[in-house]
Amino acid sequence: MKYQTIDDLDLDGQRVIVRADLNVPVVDGNISDTTRLQRLIPTIEKLSEKGARIIILSHFGRPDGKPNPEMSLHGVSDLLSKMIGKRIIFSEKCLGSQAEAIVNSLASSEIALLENLRFHKGEEANDPSFASALANLGDFYVNDAFSVCHRAHASTSLLAELLPNAAGPQVENEVHNLNSIFEGNDGSVAAIVGGSKISTKIQILESLICKVNVLIVGGGMANTFLYAKGFDVGESIFEPDLKELALKILLKAGDQGCKVIIPSDAVVAQNLQRNDKVEELAVDSIPSGKMILDIGSKTINEIIHSLEACKTVVWNGPLGAFETKPFNKGTDHIAKAISDLTQSNSIISVAGGGETLSALSSANAIENFSYVSAAGGAFLEWLEGKKLPGLEVLEKRKI
Ligand code: 3PG
Repeated sequence: MKYQTIDDLDLDGQRVIVRADLNVPVVDGNISDTTRLQRLIPTIEKLSEKGARIIILSHFGRPDGKPNPEMSLHGVSDLLSKMIGKRIIFSEKCLGSQAEAIVNSLASSEIALLENLRFHKGEEANDPSFASALANLGDFYVNDAFSVCHRAHASTSLLAELLPNAAGPQVENEVHNLNSIFEGNDGSVAAIVGGSKISTKIQILESLICKVNVLIVGGGMANTFLYAKGFDVGESIFEPDLKELALKILLKAGDQGCKVIIPSDAVVAQNLQRNDKVEELAVDSIPSGKMILDIGSKTINEIIHSLEACKTVVWNGPLGAFETKPFNKGTDHIAKAISDLTQSNSIISVAGGGETLSALSSANAIENFSYVSAAGGAFLEWLEGKKLPGLEVLEKRKI
């Protein structure tokens, strides 16, 4: 292991800042998947056994540098406390006198969780003064959030340079498992990329097409590609400004010999709430007042057919609005097909990302995947072969 781990450090009575990823998916105000919380529990227990005073930092959503009550970590803190069966003291600010008082009053093995880091512009800007204010709250730094390691933010990057640092158990596990799955892997690789985070993920596709043989695009991302190809996508989620990039990716994929599957048919309705008249239509006949909410049957079959010829599949992002029936059908069918192919040893399957895990759980397919990563974007960037800033800084092994 290139990094120091918790086992290398004497943490008894020390204030240990843990960068966690509590960015859990939320549907109608409720947390829809708790995988990221469950996976943090062994880390907290281990730190607690070592007598550390535990200070958890995280972001939640994308509040854009301003406080936003809808993205407060308060509710997440309560849920985590219930799950772990221990009191967690919540600080309504991640900096300042309240945070300092809470942190300094912690006894060994006690836990504090501080409010959403992204309520401050300094977090995403990797601002030195924000990072040093955070560093004042701790004696050690542990990164247990592989899923945010692709972000060079204050809490994942600069902060790790200011305190003796270590990789948390989740970072250790993710790096180990992802490395061993792809080691010695041969045969054709398919990547499925969906979900609604279009602008950040589309950048990743440009290099991903050089790494995989088949790229399957669904969700809001696919609508952007359909729009770029000149189809009317009606009221669907898409990003018109990314048209040129989408066309460039399609062109480059052709040059690279990467097959790109974008939907040829889609399930449409007025919107998620007014879904009494659901229709399945070819993508060249989407009515202008309607929304694409899932992939259609023809696309499902095309995807399954292409997966049958692959040896490895990696998946990040649902293919439709799976939280609302019947728009779960595309994601469910593909999840079950991959689950069957994995069970029959025809394919190695890796899925990652909060929303993806939630979709695979509701399709009852998650157990059969070869490996399930808690990371979404970080997992895709790792797959691209990019250096992740949150890991690079840990390689410096500051003691
Ligand atoms: C994720 O959900 O992939 C991580 O928490 C990172 O979130 P972000 O894409 O908003 O940086």
